[in-house]
Amino acid sequence: MAYRFKTKLKWSDVTPKADYLNRRKLMAGAGAMVLGAGAARAFSSRVEVEPEQEPAKIVRAKLKTVPSAFSTDEKPNSREEISSYNNFYEFGTSKSDPSRNAGGLMTDPWSITIDGLVDKPGSYDLAELVQGIELEERIYRLRCVEAWSMVVPWAGFELGRILERVGVQSGAKYVAFETLVRPSEMPGQRSRVIDWPYREGLRLDEAMHPLTILATGIYGETIPNQCGAPIRLVVPWKYGFKSIKSIVRISLTDKQPKTTWNEIGPNEYGFYANVNPEVDHPRWSQASERRIGDGVFAKRRDTLPFNGYGEEVASLYKGMDLRKFY
Ligand code: MTE
Repeated sequence: MAYRFKTKLKWSDVTPKADYLNRRKLMAGAGAMVLGAGAARAFSSRVEVEPEQEPAKIVRAKLKTVPSAFSTDEKPNSREEISSYNNFYEFGTSKSDPSRNAGGLMTDPWSITIDGLVDKPGSYDLAELVQGIELEERIYRLRCVEAWSMVVPWAGFELGRILERVGVQSGAKYVAFETLVRPSEMPGQRSRVIDWPYREGLRLDEAMHPLTILATGIYGETIPNQCGAPIRLVVPWKYGFKSIKSIVRISLTDKQPKTTWNEIGPNEYGFYANVNPEVDHPRWSQASERRIGDGVFAKRRDTLPFNGYGEEVASLYKGMDLRKFY
């Protein structure tokens, strides 16, 4: 039987007085990533998207966060960099498409279906689901499989908090996630570049790890649409494609779920996809990375095992051959 929390809150009710700004002012030109030849079929194919009809308004509201011991002391990228250089194929395949095309996505009301092996399955209004959960600022490195990286000051909370609320049953071994499908507001979905919805998944112990968060903000404000509004996953020790955006479904399962990039290119994108400088992508090296904002002549940075989070997470993979693409 579906379970619902009693209060009737809307997502907008839990964000303080919003200031509205024309998102055109936020836009910055961002060069398209030069990809290795054919970087997976979909990474390489351009999706032509219609330009927006009218300037969309974006709600930017302040969020209250507390600091976290898990934050890096590396310098965060600017808000501008984080919100103008994005991968979000639902809005197009070039890095500047999401900031140009995501303004029309309606993120309020927003509900998330939680189903499968849980005690309280149902369709939850986002505000009700997160009610009473304190937001933390988590400053994490983000390493994309395409060999660029950023440092992002997320506002979020541990995914485990939500899973505890809905009660994970003993047979559950994996958590599957799905992004919204709404081609009327997500112009990239009018092309079959991906078999929508975008899907991701984690093993249950990865999902319950304290580093794994759901983010609803950056820089102490509500998360911009192009970064995965109103709520996205962040798994900092894995390649960025695991960190699925604009989540509408979370399912607890006993079988490893199918995931978008692993289905597209099983020999290029593993299910686990832990950052590993010793295992190259078949078409490019993963030993180093380009930090966005470093400038074209800056030296590339060494990529760290598990993106620098090995002390916290390496034990999850004891006994596994980390050279293998699972
Ligand atoms: N989630 C959805 N739904 N669609 C996407 O195309 N791209 C992924 C991930 N989550 C993607 C997604 C990839 S490849 C990366 S690197 C990160 O989002 C990028 O996050 P950012 O744009 O906030 O830096």
